[in-house]
Amino acid sequence: MLELLYQRRSIRNYLSTPIEEEKVQKLIRAALLAPSGRGVDSQRFIVVTDQNLLSKLAQTREFGSAFLKDAPLVFVILGDSKATDIWVEDAALAAITIQITAQSLGLGSCWVQVRNRQQSPEKTAEEYVQELLNIPSHLKVVCMLGIGYPAENKKARTDNDLDFSRVYTNTYKI
Ligand SMILES: Cc1cc2nc3c(=O)[nH]c(=O)nc-3n(C[C@H](O)[C@H](O)[C@H](O)COP(=O)(O)O)c2cc1C
Repeated sequence: MLELLYQRRSIRNYLSTPIEEEKVQKLIRAALLAPSGRGVDSQRFIVVTDQNLLSKLAQTREFGSAFLKDAPLVFVILGDSKATDIWVEDAALAAITIQITAQSLGLGSCWVQVRNRQQSPEKTAEEYVQELLNIPSHLKVVCMLGIGYPAENKKARTDNDLDFSRVYTNTYKI
């Protein structure tokens, strides 16, 4: 597991190779296995492979989402705000669970922030995605994950990259 964590980097360039259905099914299982507060399973997932929709999802943000147009697969991660007040946490945990599983399958991934971001001065990124994918307003759009076979090589991290001063023992020290 730790080895996967050292190796995971945000991958925004993908080969055109489609992801095998068996791997897609594994990613779906990873999403559904993620924990949630009080076990309410507030997360919802939309698995997008339609090229036209992928191109439009790439326009969710002015900066930060363009790379989705070349992703063979995008997971849109939603939180049911009627089910719980901690849908952000639930959704984020599902996202990292999917990302680490993708890493374990030889796939690269990268998060695109949607919550609290704008698509344009007039429209939130969330409204844009909700309209595009027919999502009701109580299902909040937390993020999207672009996933595919990596077309870029990023250096795995080592202990030299880790800032151990961020960790305190027993009490915080200024
Ligand atoms: C909460 C969160 C929001 C992010 N939003 C975006 C984004 O909108 N677009 C993007 O290209 N990358 C986004 N990223 C990826 C980060 O830029 C990336 O994780 C960070 O630079 C560290 O690099 P690494 O993932 O290779 O370790 C996001 C990551 C997180 C955890």
